[in-house]
Formats: sequence, structure tokens, C-alpha cells
Amino acid sequence: MQEKVHVSLGERSYDVIIGPGLMARAGELISPLLPRPRVVVVSDETVAALHLETLRAGLASSGIAMEAMTLPAGEATKSWESLTRTCDWLLDQKVERRDIVVALGGGVIGDLVGFAAAVLRRGVRFVQIPTSLLAQVDSSVGGKTGINVRQGKNLIGAFHQPALVLADTDVLATLAERDFLAGYGEVVKYGLLGDAAFFDWLDENGPALKSGDMAARITAVTKSVQMKADIVARDETEQGDRALLNLGHTFCHALEAATGYSNRLLHGEGVAIGCALAFELSARLGLCSQEEPSRVREHLKRMGMKTDLSDIPGDLPDSDALIELMAQDKKVLDGKLRFILARGIGQAFVTSDVPRDALGDVLQAALKEKARQS
Ligand code: GLY
Repeated sequence: MQEKVHVSLGERSYDVIIGPGLMARAGELISPLLPRPRVVVVSDETVAALHLETLRAGLASSGIAMEAMTLPAGEATKSWESLTRTCDWLLDQKVERRDIVVALGGGVIGDLVGFAAAVLRRGVRFVQIPTSLLAQVDSSVGGKTGINVRQGKNLIGAFHQPALVLADTDVLATLAERDFLAGYGEVVKYGLLGDAAFFDWLDENGPALKSGDMAARITAVTKSVQMKADIVARDETEQGDRALLNLGHTFCHALEAATGYSNRLLHGEGVAIGCALAFELSARLGLCSQEEPSRVREHLKRMGMKTDLSDIPGDLPDSDALIELMAQDKKVLDGKLRFILARGIGQAFVTSDVPRDALGDVLQAALKEKARQS
């Protein structure tokens, strides 16, 4: 059981391989890329404890030597300090331009190591081995790399495509349920933004996916990656269609900022709530029927996911403050907020034309419901 998605970007094209047992076969899969039988791996302490020795053995079986460094797990690692540490270490390892750097971890490691690879010697190749569902279906594919700075998340970065992505679906079994479901927020986003049949499939197969059905997991990751690959091939640097991948993200980024990027709300949880709010706003603007946001919510709830503002523990600021936080978003263009709205499930589009009143109404209603429930 193995799937392959090709990301078609001319000379920067690459494959995403999806399936179980890929880490154990990493040597055979990576060796065609190597000028010499050696790779350097950057991981985080949690992932390294679980998977680094499997990767080492997988590489060794093809005669490939591996050096590894580990960084603390967590969002704080996407920093200037970790970037300096990583680049220093890669240079100390005498990584040359044609060598391969491996990012073994979730979105934090993928983004940080991808960015280090982008700037090291003006660009070295790197392989992503994503170990979270979120990284497998989103952040490891498409070449967005970067770090967070005092002024905001991902504000320093580069587009730098990997040379190969190995999405080993066995590693999903090591995720805590909350992390798996947060990643699922990005999976369901693909159905919502562009494929109603995929949403229907998820509605039917989501519970099996959650409980560990490998075939269902491979199908969901492959479909998600294929949709992302198609969008990235059309619009690598987000001049247009790629913004569709940000469905739910304008709301999500405001909620993440309002909760201090803390454990109160994981990114994928914010995406799920953001998707529900984006459909609510679409219905309020008369773009789709009220039935659509209800279907989105029902599905998310059935999966046991955070769906509404009332699912976020603790207080939230008022709607004006939330809208103010949205205005800090990278997607603001000429001072106007850009939203991804939908004419129905699977029919998203990008717009800067969202009346502030309608946005305020949707947020106020959600905050009122949160107050009622607490
Ligand atoms: N995560 C959205 C994108 O890669 O464009």
C-alpha cells in the first residue's frame, strides 16, 4: 500500500510518497537524490525519541550514514535562535550544496529546517519526513518555510520546495488523539474548499480514519496532498488560487493570537472553527444556504472536534478586538481583509469584499453562544 503524488513545478518538481513503513525504507527512497551516502537530519526531542532510530536503521540498510541534531519540541523552536543553531550545526557538518538535509518532525521542524535549507549556501536540497497529520497533508508540501518573530507568525521565510516528501502513515499511530484531530482540521478543509465528494467521503469514513483504519488514512492523506499539489502547481507563490488553502485561517489566526498561541487552541483546531465561521459568514451574506454551515458543524462535532467559539476554554476578546487581530494577518491586501468564503461545500473563493457589519454579526453571535454556555 503506497501512493505517490507528483508536485509539478518544472525543475523544482518532486514526489510525495504516502504509505506505511516508509521510514524503514528511507534509504532506498532517498538514495537516488544523494551525491554521497550521508544525510544530516534535524528533528525535535519528542519525535527523535520515537522515530530517529527507525530512520537511522532505514538509511543504514542502504549504506547511508546519518548525523542528527535535535531541538526542543514546540512552536517556540520556530525562532531566530533555533535557525542560527541549525545553520551553525549544518555548516559544522560540512553540508555541501548538493547534500540532502532531512527535516524529521511536524510543521515546526519542517518550516524551520526548510528555511535553514533555503538560506544555507544560498539553498541546499531538503527532504521532508512529516510526522504529524497536519504536516503530512499541509505544511510539508508546497515549499512554504519560515520562522516566527516578535511581530507575528511566519513573517520571515522563503518559498523553498523540498526534493522529496515521505509521509509515513505508520507514524500517525503515535499521535495523541487531540493532535490527530487538529491535523484532521486541515484534511476536512480540502473537502470544504474544493471537493464536495471528498467531504461526503470524510463524512462517511471520518470515524474509521480516526480509529486507525490504515487504508482510510492513506486515502485521506493522498487526496489532501493531491489537492494541495494541484493548487501549488497552479500558483506556487500565492498570487491567486493558493489563498484558497487559507479557508478558515483568517478567523483561526485571530483566535490563535487571542489565546496567546497556547495549548488552549491548536492551529488545526482553529482551522476547523475558522472553517465553520467562514461557512456561517457565507450563509449570512446569502452566498450559500444555512444548511451548509450546519452540515460542516455536524461533521466536525461527530468527529469530536472543536467546532465553535464555545469549545475554546477561557475568555475571548470582543468581536471588535477579534476583527482588529484579523487585520494583523499576512493576507491583508491594501489594508483590506481577505476572506475565503464559499458558495457551498466544495465551492470556496477568495474575496476582499466582506462588510464589517456581517463579520461583526457572525462573531457576536458566536461569542453570545459561548457566554450562554459558560
Ligand atoms: N498552508 C497553506 C499553504 O501552504 O499555502
